[in-house]
Amino acid sequence: MSILVTGGAGYIGSHTVVELLNIDENVIIVDNLINSQIETIDKIKEITGKDIKFYQVDILDRENLERVFEENTDIESVIHFAGLKAVGESVEKPLEYYKNNLIGTLTLLETMRKYNCKKIIFSSSATVYGEQATSQYVETMKRGETTNPYGTTKAMIEKMLEDIYYADNSWNISILRYFNPIGAHESGLIGEDPKGIPNNLMPFIMKVANKEIDHLNIFGKDYATKDGTAARDYIHVVDLAKGHLKALEKLNNEKSGLFIYNLGTGNPYTVQEIVDTFKKVNNIDVPYEYTERRAGDLTIMYADPTKAREELGWAAEKNIEDMCKDSWNFVKITKQK
Ligand code: NAD
Ligand code: WQD
Repeated sequence: MSILVTGGAGYIGSHTVVELLNIDENVIIVDNLINSQIETIDKIKEITGKDIKFYQVDILDRENLERVFEENTDIESVIHFAGLKAVGESVEKPLEYYKNNLIGTLTLLETMRKYNCKKIIFSSSATVYGEQATSQYVETMKRGETTNPYGTTKAMIEKMLEDIYYADNSWNISILRYFNPIGAHESGLIGEDPKGIPNNLMPFIMKVANKEIDHLNIFGKDYATKDGTAARDYIHVVDLAKGHLKALEKLNNEKSGLFIYNLGTGNPYTVQEIVDTFKKVNNIDVPYEYTERRAGDLTIMYADPTKAREELGWAAEKNIEDMCKDSWNFVKITKQK
């Protein structure tokens, strides 16, 4: 049996493929490489010593997506990472985001139904909660107001998956809401390397530490937190990847169902704490300045990870020092040869 991984050449996808190969699963990757590099496929093979099938296919391309299912009749489940994910870009290019993320997912789901494959894990995001009355987010909360087209695509896909399940409850669906993934594989061979100026905190810190950007702007010093900077639930990407294996195990043990899980540590850290830890564990300077708050940012957002622990037997194991060390190790290995 094989697992189809869409977006498997990307940041979270590649780490998940490594973990799947480590437990001897057969993996087929579909990725159009719009935000990733072909070299990642070789790096995955190098890390695991295992082979994978790779198709450079856009999930909107129905004909070629069907070909993948035709050529691999043993595809039993799909882990669906493929999508565009930059919040700021989604505000500037809403049509591109709605088209890629929504039509891409629709085409994938129709293709899965055609080939009678109804088991899927979907990469959702804590962003679907919007702003709630408390800072710790739990799955029993309703989806909230999204603040950008990217977040709206995630909320719409969640709704789409719910409607599909209610219409045909032979589907077996797991929706995973990630908090803030950072870090990299311990080999330093794969990690997050966004093109252009990064939006997210850790990729920005990595570029400042590597002297590609001269300083970090810390957005806001007047939040109601211990040091005035905003707090998030940062999770090591390898822990996150392992969460997918547990979610898949759960689906394999169920005949059908629709499940939603937060994947986070449950421990918020402020921007200041992340910067200070990164500097300390890597013994490197990260110049920074405090600037205005970034529009739309919440003060504190972190997961209640109880449901994933109780139902999946999953909990994050790596700490903030590991996350900061592994992020920098990836830069050292890949950019400072
Ligand atoms: P990424 O950009 O590194 O990976 C996404 C991959 O999908 C890329 O390799 C890209 O080339 C591919 N892709 C995009 N559109 C495609 C299409 N139409 N057809 C085929 N391939 C396509 O992003 P990531 O950080 O690994 O995120 C993976 C998933 O997790 C995304 O759906 C993202 O929205 C979601 N997510 C990410 C975060 C985060 O902070 N990184 C948080 C929550 C949710
Ligand atoms: C973290 C903290 C910033 C950059 C986003 C998406 C969310 C999810 C994860 C996909 C905030 C501060 C950042 C910088 C800074 N992605 N910061 N200077 O905003 O929590 O979540 O990524 O689903 O949907 O919204 O993550 O890494 O952008 O920011 O001070 O240059 O770092 O203000 O407090 P965020 P982030």
